[in-house]
Amino acid sequence: MIILACDHAGYLLKEQIKEFFNKENITTIDVGTYSTESVDYPDYVKAGNQKVLENSNNVGIYICGTGIGMCIAANKNPKIRAALCSTTNFASLARKHNNANVLVLPGRYINKAKAIRIIKIFLTTTFEGGRHARRIKKLKEI
Ligand code: RB5
Repeated sequence: MIILACDHAGYLLKEQIKEFFNKENITTIDVGTYSTESVDYPDYVKAGNQKVLENSNNVGIYICGTGIGMCIAANKNPKIRAALCSTTNFASLARKHNNANVLVLPGRYINKAKAIRIIKIFLTTTFEGGRHARRIKKLKEI
């Protein structure tokens, strides 16, 4: 399942992304926010993380203005590996090397077309394991 979360600065892009998934007949869970009224991004990250961790196949897509706040907040949970990606290359490497389970997008700095390209790569790229698995294991020791 794909879990969508955003703050007010990510709301418009989140709606566009949701529309894309709807057209593709892909179900998403949208934990908010649901308007451009100012909110605090940690509240939506908390709700998103809870949903993402309900199933190991779940993936989160979180959007705020820069993506930075949501990425910091998401990674407070040791089971979340959130990656802020503004290029398809980063999205690919976030999966291959970091086994990211949350993609964070900078809503004020990329448009819908670019976001969709990044999302497609993120969702179709798999973890390489090997030396990267060793490194991810070490994350738990921090
Ligand atoms: C909201 O103005 C903005 O600070 C937020 O969306 C995000 O960019 C924080 O990191």
